[in-house]
Amino acid sequence: MQINLLIMSRLQGQKKKIIIFFFVSALIVYPLFDPIFGVSPAAGDDQIILHYPTGNVVMEFGFLSISLEIPVGSADLIRADNNGKEAARIVPDLKYECFSVPLNLGLNKITITAMKSGLPIFTAHVNAFRRSDIESLYKNPPSDFKKDYFHGKDRLECSECHLLVPRESDIKPVSPSSFIAETFDKKTVIAATSTCYSCHNKLASLPYVHGPVAVWSCLSCHEADSEPKYAVKKPDTEVCFGCHTEQRRDWLSRKYIHGPVTIGNCAICHSPHSSDYPFNLYKSTWDLCVNCHAEKGSGLHVLGDAFSTEGHPTRNKPDPLRPGKDLSCASCHNAHASDYPHLWAFDVENMFELCTKCHYDK
Ligand code: HEC
Ligand code: HEC
Ligand code: HEC
Ligand code: HEC
Ligand code: HEC
Ligand code: HEC
Ligand code: HEC
Ligand code: HEC
Repeated sequence: MQINLLIMSRLQGQKKKIIIFFFVSALIVYPLFDPIFGVSPAAGDDQIILHYPTGNVVMEFGFLSISLEIPVGSADLIRADNNGKEAARIVPDLKYECFSVPLNLGLNKITITAMKSGLPIFTAHVNAFRRSDIESLYKNPPSDFKKDYFHGKDRLECSECHLLVPRESDIKPVSPSSFIAETFDKKTVIAATSTCYSCHNKLASLPYVHGPVAVWSCLSCHEADSEPKYAVKKPDTEVCFGCHTEQRRDWLSRKYIHGPVTIGNCAICHSPHSSDYPFNLYKSTWDLCVNCHAEKGSGLHVLGDAFSTEGHPTRNKPDPLRPGKDLSCASCHNAHASDYPHLWAFDVENMFELCTKCHYDK
């Protein structure tokens, strides 16, 4: 009964929330309802509510947070399927179940099903479009999809269990050297003192984690008093060069600067949070470059004309100058800036000099 009242009182504050409730399922479940708490299902008090997301949302990164209000005892299993494949399976124990679903690029059709004794008692559909600046196919979301700014609302229904206001401890040092010196070995403590951690922990879960994210210094890039809340300044260099001062000094003094760097677009290649590739890149270096320079992936690059019909390798061979690394576009080019033609990564003035860097005998 106590639980009943709690849910009722909270429901009143949520008039705007879409309440998804299937009468048919309720009828099916009526005789099965768990009597432990003495909850009577007749009044519709045992509604399962999907709080977030609602509607068709646009996401940038790989995880969508889902938050279900689910009266204790009403369901014994929650499943989420993404494009027909199981993405999450949870045995509910709290009156709220919050989890994340990994997103593919493009359209993700997510179905959330709550089950009781093997029967579905609640189903909701959510569509998320994961966009990407470097994949032309996924650059523009369909017109009926939009960003759903979570932090644009108060979210009182979450603050019962989560802290939604940044604390003093969220304001961390912003100098790279101070991160390295004192905080890297204290990761767990730092995560535990972050307000953001309880909801966004998955963002840091990929193998290559960016320095400030590893120590949960989210507010070094996200502004707590911006509109929309937690926006990041544009272009990216406004935030990136704030810490990477050495790179700024070095790159901006070069004769040639790479196209995306010229316009301050760092996060088009680097994830600001975490990724599956070294240097927090969205893809392996070769795939990343060929993404925008497709013709260079043909195999005929470097030696492609009268010189040779086979071309020069650009991958799958050891790089003679960078022990332990494979040959890639970055073996010959600098991804950011250079004083030499074609952004060559060496101090050479012409093709011949370039060749002799690796082929001494030629
Ligand atoms: C009754 C308490 C409670 C309420 C209310 C609640 N949460 Fe949670 N939430 C939790 C707990 C506990 C966890 C940790 C879950 C775990 O690790 O299994 C969590 C974890 C999360 C996560 C992280 C999921 C993941 O993949 O690790 C997100 C996102 C989240 N909550 C969002 C929300 C949102 C949004 C709301 C409001 C609509 C909300 N929560 C309301 C208790 C609650
Ligand atoms: C109660 C859980 C919760 C807490 C705590 C939380 N967030 Fe979020 N945040 C969300 C959810 C849910 C979204 C929607 C996107 C998603 O699915 O992950 C979101 C989205 C965002 C976005 C995208 C813009 C927007 O408003 O949708 C940013 C940026 C963000 N959070 C930053 C932060 C930072 C920084 C903190 C810590 C100071 C924080 N969040 C704390 C749940 C939370
Ligand atoms: C190095 C800068 C940087 C740091 C540090 C950082 N972020 Fe972000 N974050 C960004 C940028 C850039 C975006 C993309 C925003 C945009 O383009 O509008 C973003 C987007 C997000 C989003 C939106 C996700 C989506 O898929 O749309 C969330 C949530 C978020 N950040 C949470 C966090 C949290 C939590 C932390 C702390 C662990 C954090 N960020 C640390 C730069 C940063
Ligand atoms: C709050 C300070 C801070 C900001 C802002 C910041 N970084 Fe970093 N970054 C660091 C620290 C600290 C490291 C780790 C230091 C190291 O390992 O050399 C790092 C490392 C990196 C690395 C190298 C990773 C590796 O594996 O060696 C890349 C790439 C990077 N940052 C890109 C960016 C981009 C892109 C932005 C802007 C979106 C950005 N950083 C903004 C502090 C910052
Ligand atoms: C075209 C893609 C691309 C863009 C745009 C880009 N980077 Fe990089 N970045 C790379 C690649 C590739 C590497 C790894 C190079 C290697 O393999 O040696 C790298 C390495 C780095 C590193 C670590 C090594 C170093 O040189 O210090 C930092 C830090 C970094 N980038 C920051 C930035 C910042 C800041 C910006 C924006 C001004 C930026 N990057 C823009 C592709 C890019
Ligand atoms: C987001 C798209 C994008 C990515 C990813 C990208 N580039 Fe570029 N690149 C450009 C643009 C834009 C230009 C400028 C085009 C122009 O001026 O004709 C350019 C120009 C170049 C040039 C020509 C410079 C010159 O003066 O001749 C080289 C070399 C180059 N990129 C190498 C790379 C390498 C190596 C990578 C991978 C580390 C890479 N690019 C990744 C967009 C990209
Ligand atoms: C073995 C050294 C080497 C490797 C590896 C290499 N390049 Fe080049 N790249 C060159 C040379 C030499 C030139 C100038 C001659 C030419 O245009 O072919 C050049 C020129 C370029 C140019 C500018 C000229 C133009 O045609 O617009 C781009 C863009 C470029 N490379 C991209 C790439 C990409 C992307 C990769 C990886 C798939 C790559 N390069 C791998 C040596 C290399
Ligand atoms: C960053 C190092 C690097 C640079 C610079 C470079 N190459 Fe290569 N080159 C290689 C590697 C690695 C191979 C593959 C060797 C193997 O198959 O084991 C290769 C293979 C070749 C081959 C095929 C025959 C052979 O030795 O296997 C030719 C021809 C060649 N390079 C010519 C050139 C010319 C011409 C240039 C200058 C335009 C050049 N290379 C620049 C690294 C480089």
